[in-house]
Amino acid sequence: MVTSCSTNKAVLAGFLTGSALTVLATGLCCYLLHEKATTQADDETEQESDSALQPDIVEGVDGLIGNTPLMKIRSLSEATGCLVLGKAEFLNPGGSSKDRVALNMIRTAETQHLIKPHIGSTIFEGTVGSTGISIAMIARAKGYKAWIVMPDDQAIEKYQLLEKLGATVEKVRPVSIIDKKQFVNLARERAATFHDGEATGYFADQFENEANFNAHYTNTGPEIYRQTAGRIDALVLGAGTGGTLSGITCFLKERIKHLKVFLADPQGSGLYNKVKYNVMYAPTEQEGTRRRHQVDTVVEGIGINRLTKNFDRGRHLVDDAYQVTDEEAIKMSRYLVREDGLFVGSSSSVNCVAAYRAAKKLGPGHVIVTLLNDSGQRHLTKFWSDEYLKSQNIYYELKPEESVQDFVC
Ligand SMILES: Cc1ncc(COP(=O)(O)O)c(C=O)c1O
Repeated sequence: MVTSCSTNKAVLAGFLTGSALTVLATGLCCYLLHEKATTQADDETEQESDSALQPDIVEGVDGLIGNTPLMKIRSLSEATGCLVLGKAEFLNPGGSSKDRVALNMIRTAETQHLIKPHIGSTIFEGTVGSTGISIAMIARAKGYKAWIVMPDDQAIEKYQLLEKLGATVEKVRPVSIIDKKQFVNLARERAATFHDGEATGYFADQFENEANFNAHYTNTGPEIYRQTAGRIDALVLGAGTGGTLSGITCFLKERIKHLKVFLADPQGSGLYNKVKYNVMYAPTEQEGTRRRHQVDTVVEGIGINRLTKNFDRGRHLVDDAYQVTDEEAIKMSRYLVREDGLFVGSSSSVNCVAAYRAAKKLGPGHVIVTLLNDSGQRHLTKFWSDEYLKSQNIYYELKPEESVQDFVC
């Protein structure tokens, strides 16, 4: 009995072990088969998404130019009930909207066989800085030399940047455009007389060159149209050469019939009176009243006292103009940092003051577009320096309790 009982136990134990092993083996097989199937499916999905992936690489520094984002400026939008949008041109690789212009002027000159890379062809320009920096950068990237003639009263970081980019920098006293030594006239003359073996000089001439207008007509304008899906009520811009204002305005007004265009002009510039009354006149131009340089303002890059070809192309489409004081521009720049963390240069500040006024004029619900041309970093020693402003008796503090409606008239 004892023997038979132990035999039965052994059979039972054997049966149970066998069954357990079978279950284990089956489970393992199922697991392995499932793993294989999952891996195969994953591989197939990866292959599918791999084929949908396209390389997204830009060619060189010039590939980084343009396609800048359009941002909602929250503080100004909330203060007006409008959607106030700023195109972040300071994100261009050379730090300003002038990259677009410099690239198109150089490309156009290449197409017209006026310059040839790597033989010493030299690009000359008379500029207050931003265009020079863009030309110097693109000249390096494309095998040209750059020679920049500038007034000697601009922010020091602009000269430093130009030198670091390898440009020849010639600083001259600010004088009237009728003077042969005026920076634009001098750049033209230098280009005409420059020869270095096979290489000649090319005067970029951003004020009169239609490649400036075209850069904005074919790029900046279409970008704004696409980014807003064509829903814009007002465009607000300052003008130096006028290429930005005319190029974008001509493109947008062909498509948006109700669009209003407002010029944002700094104090001391004659364009405000030209738009409002068709007279090129700035009161600060009166004999003996001028305080600083040719346009009597701390703002750099916009404001001018002559009519350029690039401004004239879009002038008939400008509906109205706002004059912006240094006080308003300085306070707006500090306000945008305080409220939005947005650190912009002087011309962008003027644009934002005028954009606020346009929004107030049109009333809530409208879409207002302006440009944020460059960053405050390019203006640290002048527009953004309280010490400099105090030394010029043009220091205006933005008080903690002051809001935009308190400092913009
Ligand atoms: C910083 C900055 N903003 C705006 C402008 C004005 O653009 P535009 O010359 O197209 O009128 C300039 C012109 O030099 C500039 O340097």
